[in-house]
Formats: sequence, C-alpha cells, structure tokens
Amino acid sequence: MSLLTRTEHALSAHFDQAAGVGAPSRLVAAMRHAVFSGGARIRPQLCMAVATACGDDRPELTNAAAVALEFMHCASLVHDDMPAFDNADTRRGQPTVHKAFSEPLALLAGDGLIVMAYRVLLEAGAAHPDRLIRLMDNMTTGVGLPNGIVAGQAWECESSADLSQYQRAKTGALFVSATCAGALSCGHEPEPWAPLGSYLGEAYQVADDIRDVIADAASLGKPVGQDALLSRPSSAQALGLDGAIAHFDRLIEQAAESIPACSCRDMLRQLVQVEAERLVPKALCEGYFKTHPHTPMPSAPARQRLPH
Ligand code: IPE
Ligand code: IPE
Ligand code: MG
Ligand code: MG
Repeated sequence: MSLLTRTEHALSAHFDQAAGVGAPSRLVAAMRHAVFSGGARIRPQLCMAVATACGDDRPELTNAAAVALEFMHCASLVHDDMPAFDNADTRRGQPTVHKAFSEPLALLAGDGLIVMAYRVLLEAGAAHPDRLIRLMDNMTTGVGLPNGIVAGQAWECESSADLSQYQRAKTGALFVSATCAGALSCGHEPEPWAPLGSYLGEAYQVADDIRDVIADAASLGKPVGQDALLSRPSSAQALGLDGAIAHFDRLIEQAAESIPACSCRDMLRQLVQVEAERLVPKALCEGYFKTHPHTPMPSAPARQRLPH
C-alpha cells in the first residue's frame, strides 16, 4: 500500500470514529469539506515515511499521529482562508469552507478539527502512555507558541517580522512535528529527524511564495498574487524570484542531506525530490522567465515592514 493510500484510509477511519453520532450535520459536513477536498497529504506521508525508517512497530499509533497532524493542517487552512486572514474564496479548486458553509461554521470547523486531532491521538495512544505524552508535546509545539502555526500567523499582526522566523513558524514547525512524530510513534528519539522537517517545511513555504507569483489560480486551486495584495512577507519579494528559487533549491538540498543514515534513506531522498519538482516545476520557472524577461522582482530586506 502506498503512503498516500495508507493516509487516506487512516483519515477516513479516524474522522468517522471521532465525529461520532449525533453532532450537528452541517458542522460535520464543513469539517469533511475541510479534510476531504484533495490535499497533497505531504505531512502525514512524511510522518509515515520516517516511522517506516524507524521500524514502525506500532502502525496504529503512527497512523493516528499522522492523521492528527493533517487535521491540524486542515484546521489552519480553514482559518487562514477566512475574511479575517487571507479572505480566499477557493482552496484545492473548491470553495473555501466559509464560502461553502458560512463564517460561523468555518470558525467552528477549524476549532472542531483541532480538538479532533487531540482526541485521535489520545485514543490511539492510551495503550502507550510514554509515547503518547511525547507525541502530544510534539504536536503542541508544531501548532502553538512560541514557534508553531498560531505564532507564525500572528507575525502578520506585528509591525515587522523576520521572514525566516515567520515561515518556519507558520509552515516549517508542523513539518518538524511530522518527521519527529514518525520517530516518536516508534519510541525513537526525534532529534535526528528534526532537520529534515525543518528544511523541507521552510522550502515548502518558499515554494508557496514563488508559486504565488508565477503560477495561475486554476492550477494551484487557490488565489495567486495574494502576498503582494495583502503585503505579506514573502521570499519572492525579499529575495527576488531568482533568489527565492535558489533559496528553495538550497533548502531542498539541505533536506536531502539531513536524512539520517538508515535503510530508508533512498526512499526518503526520493520523496524529497518528487516534492521539490511538484512544488516548483522547472518547466513552470522557465516558462515564466521566458514570458517575463525584463521584470526582475524588487529586492527588500529579509526583515519586512507590515502595513498597519
Ligand atoms: C498549503 O499547504 C499551505 C502552506 C503551508 C504553504 P499544502 O500545499 O500542503 O496544502 P494542501 O493540504 O496540499 O492543500
Ligand atoms: C498558510 O500560509 C500557512 C498556514 C499556517 C495556514 P499562506 O497563507 O501563505 O498559505 P496559502 O497560500 O493560503 O495556502
Ligand atoms: Mg496566510
Ligand atoms: Mg493563505
């Protein structure tokens, strides 16, 4: 079974189990829309890949940890798209949750998924309390303060933000949680796996910034040009497009180099390379530079001022 298939099975089973019976049906539908609308599932697959490298002796616990992280990710997207944040109408080629279901339900769907993430982990981890506590701690680090998603999103409300700190928090931290969860669910120490999550996660956000400039909304399934429109700190703006692409390539190289020696090293390196090409396809960059030969992106300092 591929890691993607394993992820989809685990997401469906855990969602149904955790939603239970009798909850308000529109809330459950909004939460389903948030989770089952065609995400790439990179974080749970990363978690499972690292677990495989660590022996995966409790696959049910690995699955629960991977699902919990994906629920957190989906919750963050629901809230991120709301009018109070990025005010996006589309996500994954479909209407965003607040567009399809209303703002109150989007707020509650995000909240519901965050709580559901903890429930899934709790239930699967009850038989392994030592691993459970560390998995909880690990997930909380990825989403909370001082350097998780919530902190990352909150940098947008400050008068200035360090670009790398902002990107590592809003996106990189959950990738670190994903690689570390793969090790922790097998009772392994997480530290050797943190750099892979950190480099790949930062690369992921740099790629998102690049695609915000050079991709089109139809192929991304979400609006483009948002970083300039909302004055968000962005790698493309800070480093120029060339600089951002070079930064992305270097982060991908560092991610591949950071993979600890193990029997799954080749498989993990391949996963990183496949993601790199999916995120920033060479053909897309070449096509963009061909059609925009004389429009270098403006450079700006890495610490960017935000409008208030
Ligand atoms: C989008 O994440 C938000 C960022 C952190 C860049 P993904 O690109 O992983 O989104 P889905 O889950 O595949 O839609
Ligand atoms: C999203 O960052 C990161 C989250 C924590 C949700 P962006 O706002 O740049 O991501 P997209 O472009 O909406 O997916
Ligand atoms: Mg955002
Ligand atoms: Mg956004």
